[in-house]
Formats: sequence, structure tokens, C-alpha cells
Amino acid sequence: MGDKLDFMRQELEAARAEKRYINIRTMDSPAGAWMVVDGKKVLNFCTNNYLGLANHPVLKEAAQKAVAEWGVGPAAVRTIAGTQRLHVECERRLAEFKHVESSILVQSGFCANQAAIPPLVGADRSTGAQDVIFSDRLNHASIIDGARLSGAKIVVYEHCDPADLEAKIQENLPKFRRGLVISDGVFSMDGDVAPLDKIYEVASRYDVLTMVDDAHGEGVLGQGRGIVAHFGLQGKFDVEIGTLSKAFGVMGGVVAGNSVVVDYIRQKARPNLFSSALTPADTAACMAAVDYVEAHPELVDKLWENAEYFKAGIKRLGLDTGRTQTPIVPVMLGDVKLAKDFSARLFEYGVFAMALGFPTVPQGLARIRVMNTAAHTRQDLDQGLATFEKVARELGVI
Ligand SMILES: Cc1ncc(COP(=O)(O)O)c(C=O)c1O
Repeated sequence: MGDKLDFMRQELEAARAEKRYINIRTMDSPAGAWMVVDGKKVLNFCTNNYLGLANHPVLKEAAQKAVAEWGVGPAAVRTIAGTQRLHVECERRLAEFKHVESSILVQSGFCANQAAIPPLVGADRSTGAQDVIFSDRLNHASIIDGARLSGAKIVVYEHCDPADLEAKIQENLPKFRRGLVISDGVFSMDGDVAPLDKIYEVASRYDVLTMVDDAHGEGVLGQGRGIVAHFGLQGKFDVEIGTLSKAFGVMGGVVAGNSVVVDYIRQKARPNLFSSALTPADTAACMAAVDYVEAHPELVDKLWENAEYFKAGIKRLGLDTGRTQTPIVPVMLGDVKLAKDFSARLFEYGVFAMALGFPTVPQGLARIRVMNTAAHTRQDLDQGLATFEKVARELGVI
């Protein structure tokens, strides 16, 4: 006789047998170009620490100062007693940085999508009216979850395909109350960039709301100001989602846009109403990160220089880097077992780079994903490339 936990045991067993079980490594040092992982010192290509800020002394000092002045937690949600002066100041800085009127800080990038989408679109049970979301096929999980949570109809358009977006809008919009187009800015599995100018053009023609999640574009594109700046569309998108956990190196999410939109979301967003505010340490470190990025454009230049060098090196080896246009470099291997063996062998030789397989990426498109950063030296990159070459030869990939 089994018990009520049997379904979990069976699923865990199946995941192990099918090599889908996620073995989580433990970091024994802060994020950086070199890290101690499971007790072993390795060259790290896994973190989203694009500008090397996650362990930066200036950010750490800001966090420590905030703890001394403000304590370790706000002990309340934003709408009750959790809005500290630090949050207000950070929101002002973030809006300024993104060249928009206003912003709201939430606990994470993931939360930002849960915060922003349900207030904008949904279904009204009393009238039966429903809204529609047009979502890129490869949008991030947090967008998909936010969209599901809203109760709006989700219509998927083909990846980075404005013509298909337009066809889907023409076909569906008349049946719904209002529409919202959502796209990732940079797609984190492939490193490609959404054609934001064309998406904006199509969305404007049909007067649907527009939203972009710039988690992997901030600190990277547009001289660090993100994808909207990259396309010269500041202030045009109704909602810009951001995260402070990647290039900015800290923790927290942001919803930015014009003041009506942000004010409306502030009133309605459940992570703002029902989950405690970001800690003083995080908030102060976020602000220090924004200041630092603004004052140090050379970090963004270094990131791109490193990324181009690494990408060229991988291509020279005869390996396929897919459709990347950013410092995210996928090394396409196809077979998931090969990708896992490749990653394990890299680790054995002192290089930490993650294998990604189904369901994170489509079947048959398994890869090793390399996250370049400004923190890597030329010597690090050469060592990384030499190790990729060695493993690729050993496994018969080249
Ligand atoms: C597009 C996108 N949105 C949101 C998130 C989540 O951000 P955070 O880690 O700050 O919750 C990520 C990160 O994985 C992402 O890639």
C-alpha cells in the first residue's frame, strides 16, 4: 500500500531515471569570474552578473550602511508601513535611469510580471468581457505565469515575428475587450533581441497596450540603459519590466512607465499589496548599482568586448552559437545527453558552464549556455576557449 506522497516519489524516481532530475550545485564563494562551486575553484560562465557588480565593494558598502541606518527588513507590505524613504528614492532613480515618468520597485523580476500583468488585462465575471494577451512563443516563465494569473486569453505569436503578431491581432482583437502585447527584450536561452521597433509599430496601429521585459537587456543594451534605449523608444512602451538581479547584481524587480500606468499598477498589484517590501540592504544596493552603471559606461564596453572575443573564439572552433546578438552565448549541441556530458567534462577541467535541455529549451536543441561578463579577463576567456576546444575534441563534437 502506498501513501499520499507516492506520486512525488514516483515522479522523482522517473526524473532521475530519465536524467531530468536537477542536481543543484552549491556555491562556496560570492558570484564572480572565478567561484568555488561544490568546494572546487572554477572559471564561472553561469551567473547573470554581466557587469561584475554582485560582489562589488561600492554596492556592499551601500547595503551595509542601509542595514546600519534602516535595519534588516521593513516588516510590512508597501501599502501599509513598508514604504521606506529608500524605496521612494530608488523608484525615482530607476525612472530617471529608464527615461520614464515613474516606477515601482517589487521583490524580484519574477514578481514584477505577476505585479504588472493582472491589473492590465483579465476577465470580468460580471459582464463576461475578456481581454487578450499577445505573447512571444519564447517568453520567459514569469511572463507566462503572470499572463495565466490574469485570466486573459493568451494568444501566442511566432518568436520575434511582427508579421505573425499582426495577423494574430487582426484575427483575435475584435473578439476581446482590449489587448496587450508582451515580449522579452533579450531572450535568455538564445541571446537574441526582440524587434522592439517593429513590435511597437504593429501594436500602435491597433492601439493595444505594450509591455517589454528587459531583464537581460538592462546593463547590456543601449549603453546599459536597456533595450528600449537601444531602439530609441524611451517612454513609448506602456510597461517596462526590469530586474535588479542580473546586470545590477542585487535583487528586486521594477515596473516602469508613465505615471498613470504605474500609479494604477501600484494600487492593484498583489505583490505590492500582499508581500513585504524589498529589504533596505537590497534597495540601497540597487540604487548604488544604478549610480555605478551610469558612472561607468566602460563596464558595458568591456562586457561587449569580452562577449565578441568569446563568440569569435567559439565560432573559430567550428561550434555553433545559434542566433545570439548579445553576451549570452549558447553553444548548440542538440542532444541533451551530449550537452550534459559536455558540461560535466568542462567542470572536471575547471570551467563552470550550464547545460540546458528540454523543457527549458525545445527538444533537440540542447546547449551549453555561456554568460559572458565584464569581470572576465582576456586570460580567463582564453582558458575558457581552450577548455571548450579540449572537451569538444574529446567528445567528438569537432
Ligand atoms: C525575462 C526574465 N524576466 C524575469 C526574470 C526573473 O527575474 P528575477 O530573477 O529577478 O526574479 C528573468 C530571470 O530569469 C528573466 O529572464
